[in-house]
Amino acid sequence: MSKNRIGICLIGAGRAGMIHAINFRKNVPGAHLVAIADPAREAREAASARLDVDICYSDYREAFENKDIDAFVVVVPTGLHRRIVTDCAEAGKHILCEKPMAMTEEECLDMIAVTEKNKVKLQIGFMRRFDAGFRRAKEIVDSGAIGDVVMVRSNTRGPSIPQPWMYDISKSNGPLAEVNSHDIDTLRWFTGSEFKTVYAVGGNYRSPDAKADWPDFYDNVIVSATFENGCQGIIDGAQGVRYAYDARTEVLGTTGCVYIGRLQEESVVTCTAEKQSGSYDLVKSWRQLFEPAYLLEDISFLNSIAGDTVPEVTGHDGLMAVKVVNAGNTSIREKRIVTL
Ligand SMILES: NC(=O)c1ccc[n+]([C@@H]2O[C@H](COP(=O)([O-])OP(=O)(O)OC[C@H]3O[C@@H](n4cnc5c(N)ncnc54)[C@H](O)[C@@H]3O)[C@@H](O)[C@H]2O)c1
Repeated sequence: MSKNRIGICLIGAGRAGMIHAINFRKNVPGAHLVAIADPAREAREAASARLDVDICYSDYREAFENKDIDAFVVVVPTGLHRRIVTDCAEAGKHILCEKPMAMTEEECLDMIAVTEKNKVKLQIGFMRRFDAGFRRAKEIVDSGAIGDVVMVRSNTRGPSIPQPWMYDISKSNGPLAEVNSHDIDTLRWFTGSEFKTVYAVGGNYRSPDAKADWPDFYDNVIVSATFENGCQGIIDGAQGVRYAYDARTEVLGTTGCVYIGRLQEESVVTCTAEKQSGSYDLVKSWRQLFEPAYLLEDISFLNSIAGDTVPEVTGHDGLMAVKVVNAGNTSIREKRIVTL
């Protein structure tokens, strides 16, 4: 692409959408945030004011007429991803789509097919792949410093209670999708292999209000997995833990182990006469922990458009994670090991 600046339209000005929008508005070289699309007037107007962007659409399809827009960033509830990504691709626009890629394998395959047919980029929002710590760990593992990878263990535990729409697993795919998609992608990345079997157990420990209407809902989940290359994997996920945003990963090899992530917000520990055990603040949110990773992810998306290269995280990566989410939910429901 020979244009000086690549025009971006945000679809979905919610929590994660605003992170991308701020990046494209201020911090991604070569990007021009042209417009915002969101049917919720309040969200649209607040985003327009905060970002100083005048062009707003209540229906994202109106943006297809705008010749200044080259790419869309799709940050809407997951159930809408397939429809919106398909429409953007058919309009000949590049797409950065948040995780989880979609609800089902069939939806993901549709999205891959339509983007390939229209020769547009499709990148999926696994921003941990751009995080400095995760990247450094990958280099160490790939250098052979811990021998051969034997097991990858990854947890994501979020502080906030689930949104009401998440209680219906048939609509949300549950915490395995919303919370643990990142861990699933991390295990694929560090094992260099695909999931072969999963056994998952879920339970509702912190959401008593959901129990009567949504008996299948779980807010705590553990997964044990095997991989095609013989590696082992463990994931745990939780919502509503309150204490912190707790995302940590370990890669255990034949001769060593790499630990990624931290619970502590900063490296400073305060010890006083009153508090002899010392104290420090804990990481409060994914927004703060992965802020630099979102920026690098957005820069990478722009570079793949500008340089006409394959995105660093592809539709295939999104598809494989969705397959594992659904296998995990089947395992929880049917209380058995599921082979992928
Ligand atoms: N990468 C990450 O770590 C991360 C973090 C949070 C959320 N997400 C993902 O991002 C997506 C959005 O999550 P969120 O937490 O920002 O949700 P949110 O509820 O905060 O925001 C969603 C926004 O989408 C808008 N919307 C709904 N339908 C729309 C439509 N048809 N067209 C345009 N806008 C529409 C809503 O009005 C809302 O403003 C989900 O897929 C979620 O899993 C990813």
